[in-house]
Amino acid sequence: DMFAHPSTQQNLDRLRSFGNRIIEPAEGELASHLVGKGRMEEPDKIVAVLDDFFASQIQLEKKKIVITAGPTYEKIDPVRFIGNYSSGKMGFALAEACAGQGAEVTLIAGPVSLKTVHPNIKRIDVESAEEMYHAAMEAFPEADAGILCAAVADYRPDVQATEKIKRETKGEMTLLLVPNKDIAASLGAIKREGQILVGFALETNDETAHAEGKLKRKNLDFIVLNSLRDAGAGFRCDTNKITIIDKEGEATAYPLKSKQGVAVDIINKLATLLK
Ligand code: PMT
Repeated sequence: DMFAHPSTQQNLDRLRSFGNRIIEPAEGELASHLVGKGRMEEPDKIVAVLDDFFASQIQLEKKKIVITAGPTYEKIDPVRFIGNYSSGKMGFALAEACAGQGAEVTLIAGPVSLKTVHPNIKRIDVESAEEMYHAAMEAFPEADAGILCAAVADYRPDVQATEKIKRETKGEMTLLLVPNKDIAASLGAIKREGQILVGFALETNDETAHAEGKLKRKNLDFIVLNSLRDAGAGFRCDTNKITIIDKEGEATAYPLKSKQGVAVDIINKLATLLK
């Protein structure tokens, strides 16, 4: 009676509409059951179904994955820096999802206010692109894959003032910027046979062409394109909308999802290449 009750049925319909799988005995099976629909399944059967489910989710067992996340801060003087809006959410979601799927993760994080949860995440906190470069170059040779999600500053001030720069009364001031190393391209250049390198492309225009250019230039295996033209995508929000473009030029577009859901889509693609 409880199972047949409209409120139970309504809840089940709602779960189905979210795409959840509901395990029910087939109609024919019912007759052979002493008690029918709504009866709790035998605990050992529940455990077996859960074991199967989680086994299919462990795609990165013992794989070593290096992930960069967050922004970099390029110091101007002791109180100012050049930075960007990256919150680290996308990179941290990837780190948790990789660890959850059995990987040993090295997470190289720029300045963010996020915490890591999974015990298999080794976190290295850095501030500048130069520090991120050194940490990544050290960790990548031992890794099976690298996922470069950080929003790395392409330029830094030529000189970092040791004292706070005072306001000039005369008017304008000019900062000379010099290029930072490209971490993705540097890892692409030392990538071994069998290692997989995944990059991101954050674009505002001519998205596909720019992403494809970065994929080739940085010797990546695939690139995750997100565009600031899509609502709910990119910096700071809890969601993202991506297109994965691989070396063969195949592009797969995904709907807007939570950053956790996006991380799973990226891992599913990565797992096919790591096997
Ligand atoms: O942190 P969130 O708020 O969650 O936002 C997520 C994100 C928008 C930062 C993320 O999804 C993302 O797009 N990250 C890459 C941002 C970026 O800098 O893209 P890019 O197109 O400028 O760089 C291309 C690739 O080269 C990236 O993999 C980047 O990490 C890498 N790169 C860039 C410059 C550099 N000097 N070294 C690099 O490794």
